[in-house]
Amino acid sequence: MRLEKKIAFITGAASGIGSACARRFVEEGAVVVGFDVNETPEPDWVSAVTLQPKCQLITGDVRDDQALASAVQLTQEQYGSVDILVNSAGIAAVGPLHVMEVSEFERVMDINLKGTFLACRHVLPIMMEQGSGSIINIASVDGIEAQEITGAYNASKAGVILLTKNMSIDYGRKGIRANAICPGFIETPFISELYSSEEFQPIKERITDAHQMGRLGKPDEIANAALFLASDESSFVNGTSIVVDGGFTAGKRFGIAAMFDLE
Ligand SMILES: NC(=O)c1ccc[n+]([C@@H]2O[C@H](COP(=O)([O-])OP(=O)(O)OC[C@H]3O[C@@H](n4cnc5c(N)ncnc54)[C@H](O)[C@@H]3O)[C@@H](O)[C@H]2O)c1
Repeated sequence: MRLEKKIAFITGAASGIGSACARRFVEEGAVVVGFDVNETPEPDWVSAVTLQPKCQLITGDVRDDQALASAVQLTQEQYGSVDILVNSAGIAAVGPLHVMEVSEFERVMDINLKGTFLACRHVLPIMMEQGSGSIINIASVDGIEAQEITGAYNASKAGVILLTKNMSIDYGRKGIRANAICPGFIETPFISELYSSEEFQPIKERITDAHQMGRLGKPDEIANAALFLASDESSFVNGTSIVVDGGFTAGKRFGIAAMFDLE
């Protein structure tokens, strides 16, 4: 029980990485308050509530400062603390910049970057009062390396990584740790629509192959990294980004290793 008596607030908890974090945290003893625009959660969230009926999912948008303020306040009043914050709510935006609508650029920045700031803004005073807390921001390998046609998304996730580093400096002496996780491509609804389209199949193979383990990641593989950062096992880990990408950002591969039977 690595998170016994801990209270976690997770944005984007209804789906994918956020819901996997919720279930893993509950399995380790935490109570989770989720915050999501999506009112129909995935099986992982349902499992979390089945295991720990005190969990609750609050419907709201991370762009709505007031909704986040109320949800965080409710968490503290009802459960007595906010020990862990996971910012997982996020969207993708694709398109080269010369054809990208200003509104689409703003949407991805507002949800991915400003939404992370807003959640932190309300949780930080509570953690300062407690003298403890762990903030985990789900960034992306796309915050470290650029990809084709993902300028807005790249910028939003690079912003999340630096926002995280800033918090580790400003609040480290208050007992609060802030870290990011940079996932590679993970099998969640986030990518499933794109991946299921017919014309995307050859590209899908190349993307999968760029993960040096020859497969995409699973939500639990990100949730396990988040669990480490949420728990006291990471008590001296602050201001870093844990890359969980199966080797996607490790370097290039041209097939030479095949001569040594390493395919
Ligand atoms: N899946 C991947 O390949 C991948 C890779 C790297 C990083 N990420 C990041 O991981 C995070 C989680 O992604 P996922 O794969 O679990 O996707 P997902 O679509 O399965 O889950 C994202 C959740 O965020 C919620 N959400 C979206 N906009 C919101 C808003 N405005 N307010 C509140 N909730 C909102 C959605 O309703 C959804 O439940 C995102 O920040 C994403 O950028 C995902």
